[in-house]
Amino acid sequence: MKQVIETQNLTLSYGESIIIDDLNLQIPKGEITVFIGGNGCGKSTLLRSIARLLKPKNGAVLLEGSAISRMSTKDVAKQMSILPQSPIAPEGLTVLQLVKQGRYPYQTWLKQWTEEDEEKVKNALKATGIEDLKDRPVDSLSGGQRQRAWIAMTLAQDTDIILLDEPTTYLDMTHQIEILDLLYELNENEKRTIVMVLHDINLACRYADNIVAIKDREIYAQGKPEHIISCPLVKNVFGMDCQITKDPLFGTPLCIPFGKGRCILQEVEV
Ligand SMILES: Nc1ncnc2c1ncn2[C@@H]1O[C@H](COP(=O)(O)OP(=O)(O)O)[C@@H](O)[C@H]1O
Ligand SMILES: [Mg+2]
Repeated sequence: MKQVIETQNLTLSYGESIIIDDLNLQIPKGEITVFIGGNGCGKSTLLRSIARLLKPKNGAVLLEGSAISRMSTKDVAKQMSILPQSPIAPEGLTVLQLVKQGRYPYQTWLKQWTEEDEEKVKNALKATGIEDLKDRPVDSLSGGQRQRAWIAMTLAQDTDIILLDEPTTYLDMTHQIEILDLLYELNENEKRTIVMVLHDINLACRYADNIVAIKDREIYAQGKPEHIISCPLVKNVFGMDCQITKDPLFGTPLCIPFGKGRCILQEVEV
């Protein structure tokens, strides 16, 4: 299988503190890959370094076999877009202005705004259902609306690789599924490579072709959800006891956490 992104002996750190250690990760082309792992295990750090927003302490990130450290910013941005975790827009910036920012890699002083740019922005606003919000300042929106505006910007960039850090945060269940369905379709119909961080392990199992579970600065397990998601994995990666069953609609692994709660199962008396 063809790899689109590869990390070679990648070590990431903040100062002296090593977050990811000597990581050799391969991300398959044209698939949906989801990073999972406990809070603070380094998912965002890894995603940011793949997008070249963070310089590695050691090792390299390769994009289609070429080191991204040697590519120009615009070349990287034409191939890969990223929705960071909790992005912040400049005060007063409107949704339309934000989404238009997605087109910056295609602009030069010779080639200004084109019909194609206009079309991509329009499609991105439509796909995320925020056409009505286009003249509103981003900082006046609800968390979910804001998240969709940022996703629209990422889509307007029209790249083969889309990286998203917790794209469903702040979204209600309907919008969570809408966004994940949209990403699923971009993958299914246009063969885009999607790499994202998701908190919900059950949605991760449903949408991912490939899950990468991160723990203790390295990959704990990687593969198809149905091959790798197990009680020991959930216990070791998240420190949680659970039962794994099958999603009744999709057949994908469904993780049911132990813990407290109202149990209304009837005890069967024999
Ligand atoms: N800019 C930063 N400076 C110093 N430490 C950071 C910075 N960003 C994240 N960290 C630390 O790096 C670790 C990994 O963070 P992060 O990649 O955000 O984790 P995750 O996304 O898996 O929750 C955490 O311990 C976090 O506190
Ligand atoms: Mg994070």
